[in-house]
Amino acid sequence: MGPSSTLLLVAFLGWAEGGSSLHYSDGRSPRLSLEKAFGRSLRDSQCQHMLKHLHNGARITVQMPPNVEGHWVSTSCEVRPGPEFLTRSYSFYSNNSFQAHQFYYEDNHCTKPSYTLVIRGRQRSRQASWIIRGGTEAEYHLHRVQMVCHTATVAKELSQRLNRSCRGAVKGPWEPSVTYELWSEEGGYDCSRELNFAMHELQLLRVEKQYLHHNLDHLVEELFLGDIHTEPSQRLYYKPSSYQTALQNAKNHDHGCIACRIIFRSDEFHPPILAPRADLTVGLYGQWVSQRCEVRPEVLFLTRHFIFHDNNHTWEGLYYHYSDPICKHPTFTIYARGRYSRGLHSTLVMGGTDFVFKVNHMRVTPMDFATTSLLNVFNGNECGVQGSWQVGVEQDVTLTNGCVALGIRLPHTEYELFRMEQDAHGRYLLYNGQRPSDGSSPDRPEKRATSYQMPLVQCSASSQPSEYSRADDFDRSLLHHNDCTGWHRGSQQRVTAALIAFATSLLLSWQS
Ligand SMILES: *[C@@H]1O[C@H](CO)[C@@H](O)[C@H](O)[C@H]1NC(C)=O
Ligand SMILES: *[C@@H]1O[C@H](CO)[C@@H](O)[C@H](O)[C@H]1NC(C)=O
Ligand SMILES: *[C@@H]1O[C@H](CO)[C@@H](O)[C@H](O)[C@H]1NC(C)=O
Repeated sequence: MGPSSTLLLVAFLGWAEGGSSLHYSDGRSPRLSLEKAFGRSLRDSQCQHMLKHLHNGARITVQMPPNVEGHWVSTSCEVRPGPEFLTRSYSFYSNNSFQAHQFYYEDNHCTKPSYTLVIRGRQRSRQASWIIRGGTEAEYHLHRVQMVCHTATVAKELSQRLNRSCRGAVKGPWEPSVTYELWSEEGGYDCSRELNFAMHELQLLRVEKQYLHHNLDHLVEELFLGDIHTEPSQRLYYKPSSYQTALQNAKNHDHGCIACRIIFRSDEFHPPILAPRADLTVGLYGQWVSQRCEVRPEVLFLTRHFIFHDNNHTWEGLYYHYSDPICKHPTFTIYARGRYSRGLHSTLVMGGTDFVFKVNHMRVTPMDFATTSLLNVFNGNECGVQGSWQVGVEQDVTLTNGCVALGIRLPHTEYELFRMEQDAHGRYLLYNGQRPSDGSSPDRPEKRATSYQMPLVQCSASSQPSEYSRADDFDRSLLHHNDCTGWHRGSQQRVTAALIAFATSLLLSWQS
């Protein structure tokens, strides 16, 4: 049996095994090992401090099972693949019914509303997710979907489009500010296909609570719903395998969130109009880190740290992978570097800027026994020196043109989309393109993303000195941490599944 069939088999086990983690709940331990790992060699680094704070400082609790009752709103103008610009306002009631408003816009700052969808139905949580640990699966049932257009032009255009594709829905010319039925349990027509409309995001849930600034009066509740397929025509068939940007509870939101208040007060006849802003010029310089433990489709959890040298257009990326949804148990770390070049403003995505990234150098550090033995299984000199991997010891895999086990071939090129923003506290946020949901890599210009991943936050305006610390500086006690947790059972399968997911997409591994 060759390496690839081994991978597939184990990947399957990984999936099956997920089922037994049904009652996993991620109680947060306040002290995490990364503090040790980073604390010594990088004591003064603001960036490492922020990655560390992500784990230590954030008193986040995860509700299992999640209670979604309440009114939840977007915190900013969201971008979906397509692109579509929207804000969301979802209410869940104690009788399991829900009413969801999706407000769509013409522009990337959500200042010009075009139409609103009002979706009513029922939803029920079922069990801990097989796909994403820490998430909960749910099922939903639609009662009706209605549409209100906000301008005469949009009303005319949409009614013509739907008149062609969705017989029965359009009974006469459409007017703005009038409610039209797109779908109902009783009605005989279905316009969801024309709009690629689905509410499958309700099939995956996660609710997080945290006290901001250690202030017991300032509770923020966030609702994560399932992700949207990057290919609009696939949305109707896609089961979520990661999350969208979180909604916040209208009662318990970040006080700095002005958009939250505007969206909370809106309805289909008074769509939210967010404050106009200028697009920031994307400046790729300095250092940027994740703001939370990020989830990638199919059992990958990671944090990212990027360093951009704008003097010579080179970049360095560190990807810390974990086996668990609070990024506590490291599995492997990748260091990659290469060149980048800036392109033009995106012609497809308003507010976005095109870039091209090349990866020509890579180092890998397995951080647990499962990953280490997996890397040692591979034959031939196709991922470092055969059979030589050790826990916590980094190897350069540039000379072997990458790593077959991780599915990474070097050199590698990716077509990227970026945008920059300032958050409510004035910090710079950097968004890069969402990875294709089919697990492929955006290695051709036409595969460039039309939506974004979770933003990174700027932690240093300078790229000097490079703060990359060799992973073998890591405190070794960290490496044995896994053994005393319930996680260890089956972690080999998980890691394998993670490696495969990693393999099929990578590499700027901002990756999925
Ligand atoms: C559920 O509760 C909401 C809000 O109280 C109400 O508007 C809705 O009609 C109820 N739905 C059902 C099916 O009882
Ligand atoms: C819908 O299509 C029919 C048939 O092509 C046409 O007669 C009718 O005027 C159209 N209605 C609207 C509102 O566009
Ligand atoms: C690019 O510049 C950075 C910072 O000045 C430096 O550390 C790095 O070695 C340079 N890389 C190349 C390939 O010249």
